[in-house]
Amino acid sequence: MTQQCSTSPNSPVIVTGAASGIGLACAEALVAAGRPVALWDISDTVIASAEKLAQTSGRACIGCVVDVASVAALRAAVVQSRAALGPIGGLVHAAGVAGVGPLDQLEPAQWDTVININLRAEIFLAQALRTDMKSLPGSAIVGIASINATLGNAMNPSYSASKGGMLAANRALADDLAQDGIRINSVSPGQIQTPMIQQ
Ligand SMILES: NC(=O)c1ccc[n+]([C@@H]2O[C@H](COP(=O)([O-])OP(=O)(O)OC[C@H]3O[C@@H](n4cnc5c(N)ncnc54)[C@H](O)[C@@H]3O)[C@@H](O)[C@H]2O)c1
Repeated sequence: MTQQCSTSPNSPVIVTGAASGIGLACAEALVAAGRPVALWDISDTVIASAEKLAQTSGRACIGCVVDVASVAALRAAVVQSRAALGPIGGLVHAAGVAGVGPLDQLEPAQWDTVININLRAEIFLAQALRTDMKSLPGSAIVGIASINATLGNAMNPSYSASKGGMLAANRALADDLAQDGIRINSVSPGQIQTPMIQQ
């Protein structure tokens, strides 16, 4: 027996970290699949990336310069993205910082920055987007975690905690968001040649 699910295949998607690397590749793939995309990044190069994608694809794309470490800023950017593209049916949280620094060099401010960008932003984005996603069948969230979520790497305890925290948080959110028909998954890549790795 097959189960039929209705979906909203053309609903807009927010991609964080979309100026570079994995986030930009996700934005390009989503546009190629027919989705309008709001490309978010702390780097203002995301504006040109969004304009180029819109021109080459003919799809609605906007660029949004936002620091996702700020919950107030990400909530404002959700309002901006919804006003431009309509209710949001997808999120890829790819914004991230490597946060290399072993135990003896750890500073509280560095710890907070890595956690707030890599982990906390996704949670408050899920909160801000829940009503939109509930109204759009097939809505989904993907968090880009890392092999370091489970590996155990002396070089980056804050990064590892942020990514391991994402796996745990996304399981908890899955148990909640499923009631509204919203999927949430984590992806844990190994090393991929992007500007983050080149550092
Ligand atoms: N490259 C790898 O090997 C690898 C492996 C596993 C996981 N990841 C994860 O994949 C994601 C994408 O990384 P990437 O390799 O494409 O790196 P990248 O440096 O190319 O891209 C990360 C993007 O996030 C943006 N960003 C950083 N801080 C931000 C903030 N406060 N607000 C908004 N945007 C911000 C950066 O400006 C950049 O454009 C990250 O979460 C990273 O941890 C990467």
